[in-house]
Order: sequence, then structure tokens, then C-alpha cells
Amino acid sequence: MIRLLPLKFIVFAVIITLASPVLAGNGSNDPVAAGKANFETCAGCHAIPDYTHAYPTYHVPRLGGQHPDYVVTALKAYKNGERLNQTMQANVAHLSEQDMQNISAYLDSFRLVWKEQTNNIRGNIDSGRRKSASCAACHGPDGNSSIALYPRLAGQYEDYLYQSLQDYKTGKRNNPIMRGMSTPLSDQDISDLAAYFASQPMGLVVVQHY
Ligand code: HEC
Ligand code: HEC
Repeated sequence: MIRLLPLKFIVFAVIITLASPVLAGNGSNDPVAAGKANFETCAGCHAIPDYTHAYPTYHVPRLGGQHPDYVVTALKAYKNGERLNQTMQANVAHLSEQDMQNISAYLDSFRLVWKEQTNNIRGNIDSGRRKSASCAACHGPDGNSSIALYPRLAGQYEDYLYQSLQDYKTGKRNNPIMRGMSTPLSDQDISDLAAYFASQPMGLVVVQHY
């Protein structure tokens, strides 16, 4: 039988057979599947649209479509205490670096379903746009940063962005770059900038809303 098949076909079949475990993704080695399992304890807060943190009443941040490198950086910052938030510190305590990588791969497999948020925005979007020039180099002109270390701001909850900028300014969130960027901002600037970035669509393929 084999003898009758063209050699090219046999070579092709052998390559496919050898490659198939990789192509099919073996469950235990698949970071997205592992990350999905790791994310089960997180989904109660992060997978519920419009979930609001009990105190100080800002939304739990959206994670779908966030840059994977930034997600790992954020999780490590909670774990090593650079970023102080009791809820998140409790939630990352048991995660290994590999778990964090898996979770970031899982989150990267989602894309935000863009919902027009402009109606819910409280700050002044136009004023925020004018003030956002100094942010563009890192976060992109519309908050869709192309560098994975800089978080996407586009489409993030306005009140979460507001809270983060206040936390950088007071030093509760300890990051030298953002500390420097937020120090000169007034409450009004922070409110306008949060409004502008929250109102921007994520420049991504749209699959799932987190
Ligand atoms: C009880 C609710 C809750 C649970 C459960 C929870 N989180 Fe969070 N998460 C929050 C809140 C609130 C914040 C914002 C905290 C802050 O201001 O730093 C946050 C922030 C984050 C951030 C930072 C996002 C950003 O834009 O900087 C990441 C990443 C994250 N969570 C991932 C996870 C993962 C992974 C898990 C599960 C292992 C998890 N969270 C479980 C409430 C929760
Ligand atoms: C030189 C690069 C740089 C510039 C310029 C910059 N940022 Fe950032 N920004 C960062 C980095 C890096 C982080 C992540 C810091 C961390 O891990 O907490 C960040 C984080 C943030 C976050 C938190 C996002 C989240 O998901 O938690 C907000 C909000 C933010 N920046 C807003 C701004 C605004 C508004 C401006 C302009 C006034 C600005 N940034 C200018 C580098 C920059």
C-alpha cells in the first residue's frame, strides 16, 4: 500500500504526525488552558461586567486584552508588596511565576467587546484629549500602547483609571515613572484624562467582554 503512495505524501504525513501533539496542544502544557484553571478564583470579580469594588467604590479593572507582560508585572507587584491592595495581595499569594504567565496567556486570548461608554463618562473627554499629549509616548495617543510593558488604558473603567492616577500621586502605588507623571496633575486633570482614555475604543479584535 505505502509503496503506492507518492513519496511527497508520505513525508508530509510523517511531518504532520510528528507535529500533531504540538499543533493539538497537549492539555497540561497549554498555557491558555492552565491559565483558565488558575483564573477560576479570579473570575468572581474580574469576569463580572461592571463589578464594583466594595471600597473605595471603583470598578475592578478590565483585564481582557491587557498586555500579557504588564499583567505579569502587576501580579508580581502585588505579590512582592510594591502594589498595596489587600484583596489582590491575598489573591496572588499562592501563584507561582508560571501560574502568572499562564494567567496572562489566558487573558491575552480574550479581546474586549467594545461597548460605547461615552454616555457613562463623567469627566471632560475633550479636555482630557488635550492633556493627554504627555502620555502618548508610552500609552499611545488613544491609550492602545504598542509596547507591552505599558498598560492599555483604552476602554478601561474611568473610575479605575482615576483611582490609579490618584494612587500613583499619593505613592500608594509605587512606580517611579507614573509617580513623576502624576505629580503635576490636579484632580481636574486626572478626572479629564481618565475620561478621555476610558472613552477610547480598544484597537483590537473583539471577542469577549471582561
Ligand atoms: C475580590 C475581588 C478580586 C478577586 C477575587 C481578584 N481580583 Fe484582581 N483586582 C481586584 C481589584 C479591586 C483590583 C484593583 C486593585 C488596585 O487598585 O490595585 C484588581 C487588580 C488586578 C490587576 C491589575 C490590573 C491593572 O490594570 O493594573 C490584575 C492583573 C488582577 N487584578 C488579576 C487578578 C487575578 C489573576 C486574580 C486571581 C488569581 C484576581 N485578580 C482576583 C479585585 C479582585
Ligand atoms: C515614560 C512612560 C510613561 C508615560 C509618559 C506615562 N505612563 Fe502611565 N504607565 C507607565 C508604566 C510603566 C505603567 C505601569 C506602572 C505599574 O506597574 O504600576 C503605567 C501605568 C499607568 C496607569 C495604570 C493603568 C492600570 O491598568 O493600572 C495609568 C492610569 C496611567 N499609566 C496613566 C498615564 C497618564 C494619564 C499619563 C500622562 C499624564 C501617563 N500614564 C504617562 C508608563 C508611562
